[in-house]
Amino acid sequence: MEESVTAKDKIIVALDLPSADSARDMVKTLGNDVSWYKIGLRLFALGGPAFVQEVKAFGAKIFLDLKFHDIPNTVRSAVESACALGADMLTIHLSGGSEMCQAAVKGRGSNSTLILGVTVLTSQTEATLAEIGINRSVTQQVISLATLAKANGIAGLIASPLELQPLRQEFGKSLVIVTPGVRPTWSEAGDQKRFATPSEAIKLGADYLVIGRPITASPDPKAAFSRIASELLQ
Ligand code: C5P
Repeated sequence: MEESVTAKDKIIVALDLPSADSARDMVKTLGNDVSWYKIGLRLFALGGPAFVQEVKAFGAKIFLDLKFHDIPNTVRSAVESACALGADMLTIHLSGGSEMCQAAVKGRGSNSTLILGVTVLTSQTEATLAEIGINRSVTQQVISLATLAKANGIAGLIASPLELQPLRQEFGKSLVIVTPGVRPTWSEAGDQKRFATPSEAIKLGADYLVIGRPITASPDPKAAFSRIASELLQ
């Protein structure tokens, strides 16, 4: 029983739905099973802080995925506001540099909100890194930005399944890793090109999994969520 609570707590359901009403319906459908919801740019633009508070009122924790990347002063105050809103996790772009990371930590103050650093987006490749003047492999860039995170008080990272092994090799368990891009074998791959199954990602070292469409686009989201949670135990 205890184990199944732990498995559910590792799944963050991405509420990437086209309206606040459809996201609200999804939260109601999933009921008390879900511990974490991710609210991203689209839903935040649609539902705003009021929607975040509404989901929190259901008793779930919030991963506010707005990927802050701005001058340090702006990031500090944005993190402060997100923490005041009740975000339990939030994201910043590590490519903003050390001063911006430190400003984010300052903005968090004494809140327990986990700040996660985005290294290289899963849509990026060596070629798109080269376009912006970064001439090294995706893995080298991920490790370099993760080193910067750790040195500046950012305790968590977003990382694709492909980056889990190199990151755990380099940093052990000293960083919390949240992993998107996972697909159960029974689900449509969609536009996910680099995917692992949820249990593979946990075995490779993910602490949390972000899962959207395999749950939210399923004809029975509640059953899909439970099935993934039970597969994590195998
Ligand atoms: O694909 P899925 O619906 O499970 O995506 C859930 C979340 O994972 C999205 O909100 C997105 O932030 C993230 N994602 C990602 N890389 C991808 C696809 C999705 O980081 N290739």
